[in-house]
Amino acid sequence: MLKSNIKKGSPLTLGILGGGQLAKMLASAAYRMGLNVAVIENHSFSPAGDMTKLDFSHGWENLQELDAFIEASDIITLENEFIDPNILEYIEARRTVYPSSATMRLVQDKLIQKQTFQSAGLPVPNFVQLDSLEQALSFGESNGFPFVVKARKYGYDGYGNATVFDKESLIEAWTRFHNDKVSRPLMAESFVDFTKELAVIVARNYNGHKEVYPCVETVQYRHICHEVIAPAEISESIMKKAQQIALQSVESIDGIGVFGVEMFLTTDGDVLLNEIAPRPHNSGHYTIEACQTSQFENCIRAVCNLPLGSSKMIVPAACMVNLLGQIDGEGTPEDVRELLGHSNIWLHLYNKKKSRIGRKMGHITAVGNSQTEAIGRARSASNAISW
Ligand SMILES: Nc1ncnc2c1ncn2[C@@H]1O[C@H](COP(=O)(O)OP(=O)(O)O)[C@@H](O)[C@H]1O
Ligand SMILES: [Mg+2]
Repeated sequence: MLKSNIKKGSPLTLGILGGGQLAKMLASAAYRMGLNVAVIENHSFSPAGDMTKLDFSHGWENLQELDAFIEASDIITLENEFIDPNILEYIEARRTVYPSSATMRLVQDKLIQKQTFQSAGLPVPNFVQLDSLEQALSFGESNGFPFVVKARKYGYDGYGNATVFDKESLIEAWTRFHNDKVSRPLMAESFVDFTKELAVIVARNYNGHKEVYPCVETVQYRHICHEVIAPAEISESIMKKAQQIALQSVESIDGIGVFGVEMFLTTDGDVLLNEIAPRPHNSGHYTIEACQTSQFENCIRAVCNLPLGSSKMIVPAACMVNLLGQIDGEGTPEDVRELLGHSNIWLHLYNKKKSRIGRKMGHITAVGNSQTEAIGRARSASNAISW
């Protein structure tokens, strides 16, 4: 029986599939804990690949590169949920990987994910598989417009979603996903009238130990997360309900590692599950400064089957603001001097080499005695940065 994946004597190397900002923050936590880090990504100069000599920059589709990465790693986790589960199975034959290929098969396809939650008795919006435009039209007629058409796979930051308001916009969305160049499997989901979007980070290890973080509010504009407010300003009972649903959703996929669970608080006061991310999540960046144990440290503890650290907040409130690319061009800000004059804030820059409009280039976390104070500090600090 596996007790702990940390070896005695020699330092352990944590392999990370993916080299973006989540891998960078995982690597920072890993170094602090005395681990080495290996990174595999399909290009050089990735935010996390830049941090280690064990930088495998030809990607996991390249078998030789993958083998060398596996050889260099003692235990493997991922920051990228789009990896083919067959590749995870290939890795599993030689190393422990968390989350497992079985978990990833349940998560990667949004339709299978929702069906899994529904079978576990968890509350989800109405949804159907879409095999034809006729089916989509009849979903609109029976369920009502607007509704959301979602690509079942490879969606992020809203790129795989289209809200359709009538027959015309449905046909438009359908042809965007089905044309001469692409044919993406789709699903339809009722449009949820929500008052807030909520998220909860859950860490769970092989022994079934778990830590559930406080429920936060995430603020999305055009389907991209802009702000996270911790804890969410909701009643105690909704806080408990969201945490319970989040934990059960992770258990329903036998998730080991760290998971970000996205939910809606509806205008009727219900909590509905949106989706689960099988990795550290943008809604949990605040945990680095505002919780006893960050989501990144607990991810490492969970995949190494070590005791988990407390998820409790160590400050009354925190707010995280994403620094989104404002131009297509250089990835570094022009001037951070004014920003660094602000107090009770922490600046994180991901060191991405190129910026795109809306791309996550960094974030700021502020803490305060109340949500209002933390939000004010985070917003004014983020306005003080010039790109
Ligand atoms: N059924 C829905 N009703 C209303 N808004 C939705 C619905 N599904 C998604 N959204 C909005 O779009 C955002 C992104 O959708 P999501 O399904 O989480 O895709 P992604 O994988 O791109 O994060 C959500 O955070 C929410 O703001
Ligand atoms: Mg989402």
